[in-house]
Amino acid sequence: MSLVRTTGLDALRELEAQYIMGTYARQPVALVRGEGVRVWDSEGNELLDMVGGIAVNVLGHAPAAVRAALERQASLLLHVSNLYYSEPMVDAARRLVGTAFPARVFFCNSGAEANEGAIKIARKWGQRHRDGAFRIVCVENAFHGRTLATVAATGNPRYMAPFEPMPEGFVHVGFDDPDAVAAAVDERTVAVMLEPVQGETGINLVRDETMRALRRLCDERGLLLILDEVQSGMGRTGRWWAHQHAGITPDVMTTAKGLGGGVPIGAILAAPRADVLEPGDHGCTFGGNPLATAVAAEVLRAIDEQGLVGHAARVGDHLQSRLRDLGDPVVAVRGRGLMVAAELGAEIAPQVVRAGLRTGVIVNAIGQRTLRLVPPLVLTEPEADEAVRRLGEAIRLATAEAPR
Ligand SMILES: Cc1ncc(COP(=O)(O)O)c(C=O)c1O
Repeated sequence: MSLVRTTGLDALRELEAQYIMGTYARQPVALVRGEGVRVWDSEGNELLDMVGGIAVNVLGHAPAAVRAALERQASLLLHVSNLYYSEPMVDAARRLVGTAFPARVFFCNSGAEANEGAIKIARKWGQRHRDGAFRIVCVENAFHGRTLATVAATGNPRYMAPFEPMPEGFVHVGFDDPDAVAAAVDERTVAVMLEPVQGETGINLVRDETMRALRRLCDERGLLLILDEVQSGMGRTGRWWAHQHAGITPDVMTTAKGLGGGVPIGAILAAPRADVLEPGDHGCTFGGNPLATAVAAEVLRAIDEQGLVGHAARVGDHLQSRLRDLGDPVVAVRGRGLMVAAELGAEIAPQVVRAGLRTGVIVNAIGQRTLRLVPPLVLTEPEADEAVRRLGEAIRLATAEAPR
């Protein structure tokens, strides 16, 4: 019997406070089991999970394909280090490149680590091709991770202030503004780096024409275009990668989150033009680990075989239209595929999230007015309908309980 089931959530919270650093403000629930889009808490309550581990559980919870790959690989070889060749890594890379653009891959463990590597690629490329240029033009309200360089690329003062001084070389311009990017470029600039859809800060879509303008700008000015698809990738937006809606390809792309379907893994893809890393330049003990890459290969295969990219587009449209039907206080719904935000007319988003735990739906609040939904790609239309019904109830509860 598990601890939380026998002694209750409060006992677990006390132990966590004793042993785990207090970096997260958690919801008052312990999730103990999942299947598909559903999870169960320690009290046995069933919830529809419209957060999916924050865009991670693309195949849902406990997917058979991932379990089988884990078991298969675990009984063969868990880990070998990067001193030796290993087939699962090559298999995963080949499948990953097949969904994207001609490139070679570096595997790591997380989104931040992938972006950190992308920044290192840009710096080396700048030394080689742009006279030592190293500055990267980023976008306001970005999120690229929590390492020092990716916090600097993120540019949020709240995340930077406690850890000053920041690594230098990052400038920020307004969102979806190619003219501002162009104006920020000088001889020290080496790359432009952005998320095609900003995830952590509210599901903000860069227009396709902006993506094309940025590709042109990078070509004309001899810069690298680095796209952070850590959250927007793996089929979530209705294309394998969000930049594919615009018909362009980046020079460097990063991914993580959904790539392992719940098993930690990240990756950098570098097109031939940007493929500058050589032996000794970069490394990672667990990067490309047989267990993680065997799973990633399986996730890529399963998404393809189950047609989940087109499915995400269709169910995403359905989900968005159902959310619009909720009406007041939902004042706007935006997104692409299954990367969706519902904007509320009142500052009750955190209360809605709490109420959702009572009505049986998991959503995430970004700030006071925005709800984010990034569910597993296997979500069905009936499940989306049920999730929206439960969300509507949560909104009613939160509205009724809000102080006037
Ligand atoms: C766009 C984007 N980049 C990078 C990251 C950081 O990824 P990780 O938490 O795996 O380091 C995230 C995480 O939310 C993200 O959404």
